Amino acid sequence: MIIAPSLLAANFGRFASEAQRIARAGGDWLHLDIMDGHFVPNISFGPELVRVLRPQSKLVFDVHLMCQRPEILLEPFAQAGADRITVHIELGEAVVGPLLWKIKKLGKKVGLAVNPPTAVALAEPFLKQIDLLLIMTVNPGFGGQPFIHEALPKIQQAAAWRREKHLNYRLEVDGGINFQTAVECARAGADTFVSGTGLFGQSNFKNAVAKMRRLTAKAAPKEKAALPVYEFHDDAN
Ligand code: DX5
Ligand code: ZN
Repeated sequence: MIIAPSLLAANFGRFASEAQRIARAGGDWLHLDIMDGHFVPNISFGPELVRVLRPQSKLVFDVHLMCQRPEILLEPFAQAGADRITVHIELGEAVVGPLLWKIKKLGKKVGLAVNPPTAVALAEPFLKQIDLLLIMTVNPGFGGQPFIHEALPKIQQAAAWRREKHLNYRLEVDGGINFQTAVECARAGADTFVSGTGLFGQSNFKNAVAKMRRLTAKAAPKEKAALPVYEFHDDAN
């Protein structure tokens, strides 16, 4: 299980020490929510923050672009030190294909995000191209919103595709993730948990990260034991 605390819930007055606090607490990835005031009604931070944090942190930088024109941002974020870049399917099929290709070409892990009102089926044609599918569990734009339970069947669907098609993209959830909703998502098949207020709101950050990892690992569906493969010897031959 990957736990990815979201910097959006950190103290904006001291990003560097907050990133270090996340690392000390045992977070696996640092989730960076990039909002442009167009795709979502809020503005957060840009590539310059990634560039200044990069030398100070060994965490995987998981950049989530909630932006109307990600094509102008892929290179700046890649050069600034992003490890993974996720773009939204809502931008339209014609745009998304080239964007995913470009992220890969930049040598970064490729992510595709699906908002709560969007059918997960729209992501199906891209599954072979991606390293991560992000099922949004709130409408993006702000931290601290309540989890949308209607996203759970989408997680199940995405997990079923992964099994059936023998793919290995990570299945990430983002928005309203606390101990309880993380467990619900893990049961549905999620393995990567973005959490902002759910983790930052706890008095002991380290214990909170460990608890979320433990609870979700316990809730994860057990892989079916491999079926024995029988070889038949035909005596007639
Ligand atoms: C929502 C962002 C999330 C946000 C989650 O627009 O994509 O990553 O930081 O925050 P919480 O965990 O507070 O819902
Ligand atoms: Zn996010």
